[in-house]
Amino acid sequence: TSQKATNVTEQKNHVSRSARGQMIGNRKGFQGCTVWFTGLSGTGKTTIAFQLEAYLVAHGIPSYSLDGDNLRTGLNKDLGFSEKEREENIRRVAEVARLFADAGQICLCSFVSPFRRDRDSARRIHKEHDLPFFEIFVDTPLAVCESRDIKGLYKKARQGIIKSFTGIDQEYEKPDNPELVVETVNASVEESTQKVIELLRERGIIP
Ligand code: PPS
Ligand code: MG
Repeated sequence: TSQKATNVTEQKNHVSRSARGQMIGNRKGFQGCTVWFTGLSGTGKTTIAFQLEAYLVAHGIPSYSLDGDNLRTGLNKDLGFSEKEREENIRRVAEVARLFADAGQICLCSFVSPFRRDRDSARRIHKEHDLPFFEIFVDTPLAVCESRDIKGLYKKARQGIIKSFTGIDQEYEKPDNPELVVETVNASVEESTQKVIELLRERGIIP
């Protein structure tokens, strides 16, 4: 029988965010936040996030990417793709992301995260800890993702070999109010990445 932790009290770290910010990166000052990429499989979430991570680190800005495919082989390897398991996947990732952000990283999360409710709780977790959260909708039409079919997953989903596949036999709920929408059909990876960089500049995260 499992027993949930009780008698737990929050312990406050001695290190302030500004002190932490002084310790990392070229530009002194706290830059911790989370950039959350959501969209169908094959939209380009990973590609844009990894490109952005490389850009930031090359400019002396601390950044770390958390990616669905990667987290699902480690921390979340016990989870599948049912609605409940996706909810738990996103909950864990959101908690990890806010720790990275609190540590002063620009944490880039690339997850299908198809359900509005789950993305909203990721946002809430950050808000509760006073950390900026930016939701980026990578908006590529299903037909385009399916024609790319980089991993061959759409083909398998159509054949019924993969069940609960987003956009095929499970829903994707588009964001109502994302901080940014990036398209990948009439834009290059560089252009889409640039749009996110501009957002981070406008919001005062990066110089
Ligand atoms: S979720 O919805 O946020 O919990 O999904 P995520 O953790 O991002 O994992 C998505 C990646 O897993 C592969 N994959 C699937 N995606 C969607 N639906 C189903 N059923 C599925 N099965 C496996 C796929 O490689 C996803 O990566 P991306 O980069 O999105 O293509
Ligand atoms: Mg990916």
